[in-house]
Amino acid sequence: MAYFCQNVLKIAASSIAGHSNSARFAAYRLSSTAVPSYQHIIVEKQGAKTNVGVITLNRPKALNALCDALMREVSTALDELEKDKDVGAVVITGSEKAFAAGADIKEMVNNTFSQVYGGNFLNHWNRVSTCKKPVIAAVNGYALGGGCELAMMCDIILAGENAKFGQPEIAIGTIPGAGGTQRLIRSVGKSKAMEMCLTGLPITAQEAEKLGLVSRVLPPKELVAEAIKMGEKIASHSKLIVAMCKESVNQAYETTLQEGLLFEKRTFHTTFATADRKEGMTAFAEKRPPNFTDS
Ligand code: CAA
Repeated sequence: MAYFCQNVLKIAASSIAGHSNSARFAAYRLSSTAVPSYQHIIVEKQGAKTNVGVITLNRPKALNALCDALMREVSTALDELEKDKDVGAVVITGSEKAFAAGADIKEMVNNTFSQVYGGNFLNHWNRVSTCKKPVIAAVNGYALGGGCELAMMCDIILAGENAKFGQPEIAIGTIPGAGGTQRLIRSVGKSKAMEMCLTGLPITAQEAEKLGLVSRVLPPKELVAEAIKMGEKIASHSKLIVAMCKESVNQAYETTLQEGLLFEKRTFHTTFATADRKEGMTAFAEKRPPNFTDS
C-alpha cells in the first residue's frame, strides 16, 4: 500500500521526535508501520497482526489544537484505513498532556460569518462519525471543545486517569460547533450537558466514567496499549458483521425505539445471508475457533 512506508524504524524515530508519548512508541515500534506524508498526525498499523489503525494527533506545541489541515489529514487517514482490508478497528489518540485542546482558536479568530456559513466551517469533521469501521478514542489529558467533540464522534471512549472533558467555547464567546451540544446530552443527560456547555468547566475522567461518557478509565501510560488491545479484539471478529453491528447501535441515536428495533431485527436477519454468520455458529457447534472471511 502506497501510504504505508516499510521503513518502519527510521520513520517512526523521526516522526515522533518531540512526541511526549515516546514510551508507547518504544513498545510498539517493532510491529508498526508509519506514514511519512502527514504533517500533523502520525498514522500507523499496530497490534500483533498489524490490523489496528492508530491515528496520533501530533501538534504538541499547540496541545493538538485541531487546525483545518489536521482534521483534513484525519479524514484522509480514515479514508485510507477504511479501504485497507486488513484493518478491523481504528484508534485515535493524542499525547499524555492533550488529546486535543479544541479547534484552533488562533486559526479561526479572524473568520467572518459569511466565511464560516458560506464554507460550512467544520462540516468535514463529520468524517470521523461516518467511518464504517469502529473508532476508539484513547483520551489522555485535555479533551476540550472540538477535542471533546472529536472523542464523542468515536464509537468508544477510553480515558486516562488524567483526562479532562469539557466544552469551554462559551468562555471565548461562541458555542460548540462540532456536535458538543447534541452528542453530550445523549451521553450525560440534559442537566450535566447544560452545566458543561454553559459554565465551560471541564469534568474529570472519573466523572465522565460515572456519567457514561467514557467506557473505562485507565492509567495514562497503559491507555493506548489497552485501546489497541480492544481494537485487536474487535478486529478478530468478522469485519462485515462488526460494521452491521456498529450501524445498528448507531441507529439508536437517530430514530425512535420502534424503528430502531425494526432496523436491528432486519440487520440481524441479514447476518443470515452472510458466510461469516454460518461459519461463526458452525465453529461454535464444532468447538473450534471461527475462520471469518468478511463475507
Ligand atoms: N487553539 C489554538 N492554540 C491553542 C489552543 C487552541 N484551542 N489550546 C492551546 N493552544 C496553544 C496555546 O495558545 C499555547 O500556545 P503558545 O505556546 O504559542 O502560547 C499552547 O497551546 C499551550 O497552551 P497553554 O500555554 O494555554 O497551556 P496551559 O497548560 O496553560 O493551558 C489549556 C492548557 C487549559 C488547555 C489552555 O490552553 C486552553 O484553555 N486552551 C483553549 C481551550 C478551548 O477554549 N478550546 C475550545 C476551542 S473552540 C472549539 O473547539 C469550537 C468547536 O466546537 C469546534
